[in-house]
Amino acid sequence: MGLSWEKRYNLVKIEIKGLSFSYSSHKILEDVNLAVHDSEIVSLVGPNGSGKTTLIKCIDRILRPKGCIFLDGRDIESLSRQEIARAIGYVPQSSTSSLSTTVFDTVLMGRKPHISWQVSDADLDKVAGILELLHLEDLAMRDFSQLSGGQRQKVLIARALAQEPAVLLLDEPTSNLDMRHQLEVMEIVRDMVHEKKISAVMAIHDLNLASRFSDKLAMLVKGKIYAKGHLGLLLSAENMAAVFGIEAMVMNVSGRPYIVPIRSFNGASNAKMALSSELNNPLLV
Ligand SMILES: Nc1ncnc2c1ncn2[C@@H]1O[C@H](COP(=O)(O)OP(=O)(O)O)[C@@H](O)[C@H]1O
Ligand SMILES: [Mg+2]
Repeated sequence: MGLSWEKRYNLVKIEIKGLSFSYSSHKILEDVNLAVHDSEIVSLVGPNGSGKTTLIKCIDRILRPKGCIFLDGRDIESLSRQEIARAIGYVPQSSTSSLSTTVFDTVLMGRKPHISWQVSDADLDKVAGILELLHLEDLAMRDFSQLSGGQRQKVLIARALAQEPAVLLLDEPTSNLDMRHQLEVMEIVRDMVHEKKISAVMAIHDLNLASRFSDKLAMLVKGKIYAKGHLGLLLSAENMAAVFGIEAMVMNVSGRPYIVPIRSFNGASNAKMALSSELNNPLLV
């Protein structure tokens, strides 16, 4: 079956052209080119320190890179802070906030770019709706600073969703969550992206979650895009070796690649010994 009309004609939401960034003299990102369309989740994957967080911060204009970033065809340098705040929702890798605010008020902060004089009933309803969607309603009056890492992560995602942005930037949104919450959060993000035709750029370490929930991948190595495009081509044993330095098997689960890591190339020859018997396990091949 061919692609639907919407799928074929999705518009470019974010276009990154020739982006480079350095911390003082230390080059972190080099000549990054990437396009993200409407209704698309693009996952940034790559080893620790490859520049995923830096790239996300450049898109949110927390950092000021060289090169261009266009949002709906407009150079983000020409947008006001308020326009950026309305258009882009950012979920940081972690929050060490010790501010004493309730979960409800933290999520309500997501509405701030839309509030002109005072909070409306519609804003309060939106926040209540998002808390319900993420099953956070029982935590609504709890202090954000007293939550567990996973609960905080869900609240920060709720705050970004309450913002109703055109672009969601998610920096390792599932790193503190147990499996059920990982799936729950990813299902909600995927449904929002597709229903509201927004775009998401997500840094993520879990390649199998990335495979299951992304439309495309960009692989970063030492600040450069090593490969980008569709999952089936990128999640190969060759790329696992070249990008992550691991031997891996790639299986097919429900039509998507599923990575089974076997051993690291740096590491223990003992591990190789221990796993050689598993490699002969017929269940794995
Ligand atoms: N504030 C900073 N000052 C200097 N170097 C930094 C800073 N933040 C990150 N870096 C460096 O930039 C590189 C990329 O980091 P980062 O974007 O956080 O990678 P990732 O998110 O892929 O793990 C790393 O080498 C890191 O040490
Ligand atoms: Mg990071």
